[in-house]
Amino acid sequence: MSKMKIFEIPDPILRQKALAVSRVDARIKGLLADMLETMYSGHGVGLAANQVGLLERLVVIDCSGETERTSPIKMVNPQIIAHSENKIIHNEGCLSVPKEYADLERWETVTVQYLDENGKEQTIFAEGLLSIAMQHELDHLDGILFIDYLSKLKRDKLLRHLEKRRHRESGEICS
Ligand code: NI
Repeated sequence: MSKMKIFEIPDPILRQKALAVSRVDARIKGLLADMLETMYSGHGVGLAANQVGLLERLVVIDCSGETERTSPIKMVNPQIIAHSENKIIHNEGCLSVPKEYADLERWETVTVQYLDENGKEQTIFAEGLLSIAMQHELDHLDGILFIDYLSKLKRDKLLRHLEKRRHRESGEICS
């Protein structure tokens, strides 16, 4: 396994649509393992292929908690096939929008169908944090980021904040 580079905004790959995987083989299995390792080392709960520079419909998620990491889910071509009417608000962040967070609404529960790393069809019913992570990661595959759901005012403020911090951090390295 090896750690991959995480692409951050405004990299255009984050805005592209990932393509369906036609064959789940050893290469895909290897990519999922690398993505999981990359997600763990970045302290994230989910990671989509676009974020590591790949336009293939691959997602990894583990919502078991920072110290446990016992529930990895590796998904190929995931799709939401049902969702609740009810929505919940959660404070979201993203490894591609580093250290910025915002409250947003998501469906309380979703049912997701996908192929596992062996190419076998699976269906999962997700609620709570797992439901939010599923919706967030599947959005990535369509080039959508959580900041897209914010008002222009809130989004601009968040992006300005991110830019300022990047500037400060790059200054610290130079001095
Ligand atoms: Ni994200």
